[in-house]
Amino acid sequence: MTTGSLLAADLVIAVLAAAAWLGGGAASAARRRPLALGLAAVALLATLARAVTITALARAGWWFAAEKVLIAAPLSLAAVGVAGPQLLRARGDIRAAAVALLFAGYATSSALLVTVLHGYPASAGAGLLAISGVVAATVVSGRALGAHPSRLVSRGAVVVTVAALVTGTGLTVGPGAAPAVPHDHGYPAVGIADEPDRRYTLTAGTATVNADGRNVAAWAFNAQVPGPELTATVGDILEVTLRNRDIGRGVTLHWHGYDVPNDQDGVPGVTQAAVRPGQEFVYRFRADQAGTYWYHTHSASDVGVRMGLYGVLVVRPGPVSGVDVTVPVHTLAGRPLPAPRVEQIEAGTPVRLRLINTDSTTHRYALAGTAFRVAAIDGVDLRGPTPLVDTAVLIPAGGRYDLVFEAPATPVALFVDGRSVYSTGPVSTATGGWPVLDPLGYGATAPVPWSRFDTTFTLVLDRGLDLRRLLPRYAHTVNGAADPDIPPQVVRRGDVVRFTIVNRSQVVHPWHLHGHHVLVLARDGEPATGSPLWLDSFDVRPGEVWKVAFRADNPGMWANHCHNLAHADAGMTLHLMYS
Ligand code: C2O
Ligand code: CU
Repeated sequence: MTTGSLLAADLVIAVLAAAAWLGGGAASAARRRPLALGLAAVALLATLARAVTITALARAGWWFAAEKVLIAAPLSLAAVGVAGPQLLRARGDIRAAAVALLFAGYATSSALLVTVLHGYPASAGAGLLAISGVVAATVVSGRALGAHPSRLVSRGAVVVTVAALVTGTGLTVGPGAAPAVPHDHGYPAVGIADEPDRRYTLTAGTATVNADGRNVAAWAFNAQVPGPELTATVGDILEVTLRNRDIGRGVTLHWHGYDVPNDQDGVPGVTQAAVRPGQEFVYRFRADQAGTYWYHTHSASDVGVRMGLYGVLVVRPGPVSGVDVTVPVHTLAGRPLPAPRVEQIEAGTPVRLRLINTDSTTHRYALAGTAFRVAAIDGVDLRGPTPLVDTAVLIPAGGRYDLVFEAPATPVALFVDGRSVYSTGPVSTATGGWPVLDPLGYGATAPVPWSRFDTTFTLVLDRGLDLRRLLPRYAHTVNGAADPDIPPQVVRRGDVVRFTIVNRSQVVHPWHLHGHHVLVLARDGEPATGSPLWLDSFDVRPGEVWKVAFRADNPGMWANHCHNLAHADAGMTLHLMYS
């Protein structure tokens, strides 16, 4: 069983246990003896089953189990310890067990709330709040059911509730770390003075564009989605003038995966101010990395990219040889882009398909009709890629794969999630059952260039209640905090930095660090065995633990976030800064 399914199973069992205890309490209050006993039995079994899931999760990693071991387990023990004996004693009137069963229900429910609303790391504040909730709810239920505890017991309960509530609240919402990043500071401008080799102008504006045969409202660069394809040859100086005609939320250009100098990175509030309607901003940088990249707005990035403010950036090592096409996949107003393209290719021609996922979720790509190699991932060439046949690839949000092959005499087709997007003729292969390539074991291995790490960080990805704003929100969190309250990661220039990224949530998080490619070291404790993988976008699936490393060689303040941009907007963004 994977840790991801263990997390899901544990959650389901916890819900079942809490519901059964509460139901049992209600049934016994209503004197429905068989029902009450049945539910109590289910509750007991589910509570005991959690001992198994919690132990297994703790073995997979403390991050997955901390609050379950420290808060849920003691509360579950209390539930069983209180409800069990009462049930045995309630031979005559089952109603006598009602308060005890309800107590067990409140104890298991509040432990569940701690997991769902608070998560990792476990905190004393959350534990105390949970206890005060349990005691208060039990006292109220007791009163309602006409139980008559002694004065001492009811006074004690009130004292425990109030003390736990006050302390817990203080610990939970009290002043924590200072806001992460000095937003809207002065922006450094380094810039390149040299004459550019390539000049482009991108004008952002609202537009109506055709997507999959229907006209839809979009936000577009130069009235097209995707925006113009920007190309350069390695060594070129690229100058891109960004104008904003009428995008009220502002625009910027972020060069996704391109490790530009910090002041060209296009993150509003961090490296520049957002470009407002009527304004412009000129980007200039040297194209010193060959490969497949893309650009997109980073201002209101979730809605901005989704509405169409993105395009392709391809930097080639020299003149194009053979067929070299880009396939940027996007979902615009629910319609898939690009439109299917069919072109004939003479047998023997070398073909490079540059696959780009500009959506916020993973896509599945299958190339049918030919053997192929994955020549590059995220713009970086792989070492010793071997031929693949009838194998699909999963590309994370923001990621790119370059597939290469020699055109056969028979047709070839690229399917994205089962839809033919690019082909050289009709192909009717069913690709849905193909195995998926694991890039961590593909190509020829090479030793990791570092033997020690100067700085290490752990990022635990989860969800949690964020109370530090005007309106509370159910945020996507890193180490229990949400943007802008996640402490920045501070590194020194030259440091070799290692990240451990843990996903204890129920959804995929495509991780993306700006300004650096990271080398994948291991996933779930298994070292990567294939070609060195230098990635800028990688899917951390539920229950996975990734270890990646990089050299801090590009000074500045860099966004480090989930590239499911809705998650990034909902808190899952932090910053890497140089001291
Ligand atoms: Cu492509 Cu900060 O993102
Ligand atoms: Cu995410």
